[in-house]
Amino acid sequence: MKIYPFFLAAAALSVSAQTPQIDNIISQLTLDEKINIVVGANRLFELPPDAAPGMPARPAPDWEAIGKIQSQKVKPGVVTAFTEGRVPGAAGELIPVERLGLTTMILADGPAGVRIDPVDGHYATAFPTGSLLSASFDTDMVESMTKAMGNEVKEYGVDVLLAPAINIMRSPLCGRNFEYYSEDPLLAGKIAAAYIRGIQSNGVGTSLKHFAVNNQETMRNGVNANVSDRALREIYLRPFEIAVKEAQPWTIMSSYNKINGVLASENRWLLTDVLRNEWGYDGFVMTDWWAEQDGARQIKAGNDMLMPGSVHQADEIRDAITSKRLDERFLDSCVARILNVLFKSPTYNRYEYSDAPDLEGHAAIARKAATEGMVLMQNDDRTLPLKPKSKIALFGTSSYDILVGGTGSGNVNRKYKVSLDEGLQNAGFKLDKNISEKYTSHVAEHKAKTEENFWTVPVVPELAISEAEAAKCARANDAAILTIGRMAGEGGDRHTTAGDWYLSDTEKANLDAISKAFRAAGKPVVVVLNMGNIIDMKWDTQADAILHAWLPGQEGGNAIADVLSGKANPSGRLPMTVAYNYTDYPSSANFPSSDGVDGSVDYDEDIFVGYRGFEASATAPAYPFGFGLSYTDFTYSNLNAARSGDSITLSVDVANSGKKAGKDAILAFASAPESDVAMPVRELRAFAKTALLKPGASQTVKMEIPVSDLRYFDEFEQTWKLPEGTWTISVGDLSTQIYL
Ligand code: BGC
Repeated sequence: MKIYPFFLAAAALSVSAQTPQIDNIISQLTLDEKINIVVGANRLFELPPDAAPGMPARPAPDWEAIGKIQSQKVKPGVVTAFTEGRVPGAAGELIPVERLGLTTMILADGPAGVRIDPVDGHYATAFPTGSLLSASFDTDMVESMTKAMGNEVKEYGVDVLLAPAINIMRSPLCGRNFEYYSEDPLLAGKIAAAYIRGIQSNGVGTSLKHFAVNNQETMRNGVNANVSDRALREIYLRPFEIAVKEAQPWTIMSSYNKINGVLASENRWLLTDVLRNEWGYDGFVMTDWWAEQDGARQIKAGNDMLMPGSVHQADEIRDAITSKRLDERFLDSCVARILNVLFKSPTYNRYEYSDAPDLEGHAAIARKAATEGMVLMQNDDRTLPLKPKSKIALFGTSSYDILVGGTGSGNVNRKYKVSLDEGLQNAGFKLDKNISEKYTSHVAEHKAKTEENFWTVPVVPELAISEAEAAKCARANDAAILTIGRMAGEGGDRHTTAGDWYLSDTEKANLDAISKAFRAAGKPVVVVLNMGNIIDMKWDTQADAILHAWLPGQEGGNAIADVLSGKANPSGRLPMTVAYNYTDYPSSANFPSSDGVDGSVDYDEDIFVGYRGFEASATAPAYPFGFGLSYTDFTYSNLNAARSGDSITLSVDVANSGKKAGKDAILAFASAPESDVAMPVRELRAFAKTALLKPGASQTVKMEIPVSDLRYFDEFEQTWKLPEGTWTISVGDLSTQIYL
């Protein structure tokens, strides 16, 4: 390794005893150097013409400064991020201050893997996306999966992964729900904490995003969320609080939107009073990309870094300081917080990355992880698992062109993806040749005309299947599998239209024909849902089995086949409520806007988001939060609770009383005593996953509920309070409950 004497001296700074040294560095920095540290390096480059439509033209690139970043290459042959990149395709980076040994730091998207351009064959693994991870209800699994992902972050020369994304699924129509976790704040927070621990165990950072109340993509750059303090605290900030306190992400990304009239990135209450003073956060906060709001106000609010960085932001901060509108000490604190993280980063510590992570090993991890979060929503007469070597008529274009991740910054440049047709054949099933050939050529024809890019992952239009074709397939095969695919992502929300929330006419007609024909022949119909979210399910009686496979990552086809064949026993549970009618969702009256004019959304459902709302209004969902079947049966007994100080320890014996080995996710809900305060019927307060239990085996599952977690937020007194009286704990999903 080439030794840079200057860097060695700087690297010797200890992070724990840094304050005096950081002060010392700051005292040596010029105003421009400080501004260079907080305003991202993109301003040195020409703005890519299509990066930000409507943005003013930028000056020519500052080649001298770019050269300085390039001189920090740890290995030859690569240049900086935005153009050809030291890490091509990385989303952002810092401008170094070479004379003081302060290096750049490279930031790249997530969350389903590290998003880099596949230059020189540098592909990254596309892991399963957020909603699948949370459906696993398995923090250990998530942590071990992201440990592998974090290794790719490090070995591709990235310092901070821009992930996880944990905004509450307020509406099933939010375009980015695929990368978010849940309608429940505890589940979202705990899964996020596990994700962060796994990534950061590699010595690289994460960026918990989008802080906060970014629950829709429509008008995302400035929509004003009108939300009560109570809903903010209990629902929307809570997952961030859990993740911050339990896992200390190196960085946090503020969101674009306004919260009660104030932009999140300019919100000192949010970024300083709550995040730092109340929660004890010690990392730094960056803006979301191109959130070019008032730079001086952002700095003052405690939004330390402006990404990806523009010339006018730098000018604005310089003007604000020279005209004394902004006290330079605000800037100094931002710089200090950034340096604190920089000193831990691989780039600063001259880590020699390999550009060669173990992609094969990680693919196996992605495949296993994908099976852990799939949800068996229906399995009449134990249709699944399928008998080995069954003959299958495989329908649905997404069966042949699987959707593995969502669009936008979360779309990973993977080397390959395994569709379900390949997965089933790898698992020894025989596919109906005629129908498969018909789909394969239709898919190939469509794909020749379209291309996957940042904003678009084309979904191949559905093929119409005639009744005669369906009947022919039913005679010649043992079962039908039909995949329904939906794509969504950054920059847009879904709609309550046919082909999106509802089945399209072709999908409906196909399901009718297939279901009629296979049932007449006494053969089962299996529907696979391939989407990061959910859809209307009123058709579910036409299927014998339904598997929600989410957006399962590049090994998706193999993973689905693992579950359909019984090699893996599904143990996922729904992290969101599936409504019978879209209008049953408590947010539906106010999504994506309340006025349609000035871009404001009233969160009128308050804390009654998702299942909290369904239970409060006694509205029966199609599938409740926490629902998920297994190929085996579990019985619960000996539910015990003991309180000691601030902690309630729960234990429950879970026995596999069925015939196949399996895991079970155990959910514990708490119900408050009667009081004058409006409280949800019950709220998820703890969850755990069993080990793989063989038939007849049992496990005592232990869970902890801190008593302080049972408090509600009193808006009048602006404080947390505990309703006194007898609390009820119940274990199970929201359709099967065992009470204590
Ligand atoms: C997205 C972020 C992402 C960033 C950088 C933004 O448009 O909202 O989630 O990390 O771009 O690519």
